[in-house]
Amino acid sequence: MILLDGKRIAAEIHQELAVEVAQLNSRGIEPHIALLLVGDNPASLSYVRSKSRACEQVGIRSTVVHLPAATSEQEILAYIEQWNADPAIHGILVQLPLPAHVRSDTILQAISPQKDVDGFHPVNVGRLVVGLPALLPCTPAGIVELLRRYQIRLAGKHVVIVGRSTIVGKPLANLLVQKAPWADAIVTVCHSGAPDLRRYTLDADVLVVAVGRAQMIRGEHVRQGAVVVDVGINRLEDASAPKGYRIVGDVDFASVAEKASALTPVPGGVGPMTIAMLLRNTVTIAAGTAWEKPPFQ
Ligand code: GUN
Repeated sequence: MILLDGKRIAAEIHQELAVEVAQLNSRGIEPHIALLLVGDNPASLSYVRSKSRACEQVGIRSTVVHLPAATSEQEILAYIEQWNADPAIHGILVQLPLPAHVRSDTILQAISPQKDVDGFHPVNVGRLVVGLPALLPCTPAGIVELLRRYQIRLAGKHVVIVGRSTIVGKPLANLLVQKAPWADAIVTVCHSGAPDLRRYTLDADVLVVAVGRAQMIRGEHVRQGAVVVDVGINRLEDASAPKGYRIVGDVDFASVAEKASALTPVPGGVGPMTIAMLLRNTVTIAAGTAWEKPPFQ
């Protein structure tokens, strides 16, 4: 079984990006991302810290604004409008989930599509669907990049995605059905409400799991020799762990490792790739090529 080492591949990408950032600096451009966090969700706090730290490592400037949970939609929109209008800010990211009183759609649609480093704006979603160069959502792009760097080809393969979220499942399906050398897959999207998930998962050459339920996919769901990508990041209480919890995926690692030919670990698989793609999106915006360059070249 091959462990798909997202941490190592992300570190490679960071090195490549650091070179590009230095080239931009010599042209007087300092890539700069604004990160907005509302409230005190512990996982979100940790993600925003990781993103900001990764930016620093490759020379991208990051501005983090952390607002209280009670912040109004108006106040959030005021930050976004200020950043939209500021030519020194290249990327804008609003960490999800937002508090319940804030309409996420309203906020995400207020971000300039050309600064939309998460690829969540309907303009970028639409560009992806019709096959135009787009700012791509970071987790789907990270999965494609990880498999590509391990030379796992998807053309003609049956990719089964469990999970139909707007952040992972749906955009990943839209990427993988494209007629392109790094895609060209036959894609099935299913979700946790399927009466018999194994009916779909057992047919997968490549199984991607993004449902947000700890260890729900086990060896019995997986065909011998399949490639398995685990997108889940779940906190399981564990009194013996230093922080009182440990992180597990949506895949039961031990039983799936006995079936899979390749598998992403959690942590250290898809997570670092998501961050690497966020940095890449920021750099392509700063370079002015975000809507010009086809992805994965
Ligand atoms: N929350 C969970 N995943 C993501 C992501 O990729 N981007 C943002 N902004 N929030 C998230």
